[in-house]
Amino acid sequence: MLYTILKHSHSGLRWILVILFLFALIGLFRVAFRKKTCFATTRRIALFTLIVSHLQLIIGMILYFISPLVIFSGQSMSNKIYRFYLVEHISLMIIAIILITIGYSQAKRISDELRGFRRMFTYYLIAFILILISIPWPFRGLGAGWF
Ligand code: HEM
Ligand code: HEM
Repeated sequence: MLYTILKHSHSGLRWILVILFLFALIGLFRVAFRKKTCFATTRRIALFTLIVSHLQLIIGMILYFISPLVIFSGQSMSNKIYRFYLVEHISLMIIAIILITIGYSQAKRISDELRGFRRMFTYYLIAFILILISIPWPFRGLGAGWF
């Protein structure tokens, strides 16, 4: 029961995160390259992106210990699906979430706002690429669906 709820929340939140990322990156790009001066809205969208990514971290950490797809055994390494959830998904996603957190926090601390937004754009862009690579999209044959 708990597993089903968490699994579907985790799967659905992926879409919210991807959409927030697109808005955040477009906003950060436009601010960073002076095409727009709306700092407050862009910072707020970047904050929502950070919060949803932290939510995914919490839900993912619980799933990691209750999911039937995470099997703590050396033999998992020779199975594509088991290896993906045991090692690949968690490690790349945690790196991505750390990059988002560093990017957001640094931008807050740098006094030159424009420089801060440029820094945040770089961190968010790398994080987004890592996340897109690590999502078990259906076409990757990892047993997960679109929702
Ligand atoms: C394992 C769980 C979590 C860890 C390790 C974690 C870690 C962190 C770290 C290191 C920061 C940066 C602090 C800074 O430099 O200012 C942060 C900020 C934040 N996190 Fe999390 N977090 C977790 C879960 C959550 C959850 C579940 C939420 C909300 C749903 C959340 C929301 C936030 C918010 C709103 C900020 C502050 C952004 C700001 O500076 O304004 N986090 N978190
Ligand atoms: C940006 C963050 C993340 C995104 C977008 C994401 C996305 C996803 C998606 C789409 C699935 C497939 C769900 C399905 O079967 O329909 C999944 C599964 C899973 N994720 Fe994540 N994830 C993230 C972070 C994490 C983290 C940090 C962990 C571990 C700490 C984690 C652990 C898991 C586990 C264990 C499963 C397998 C659940 C199952 O089907 O039994 N995820 N994730």
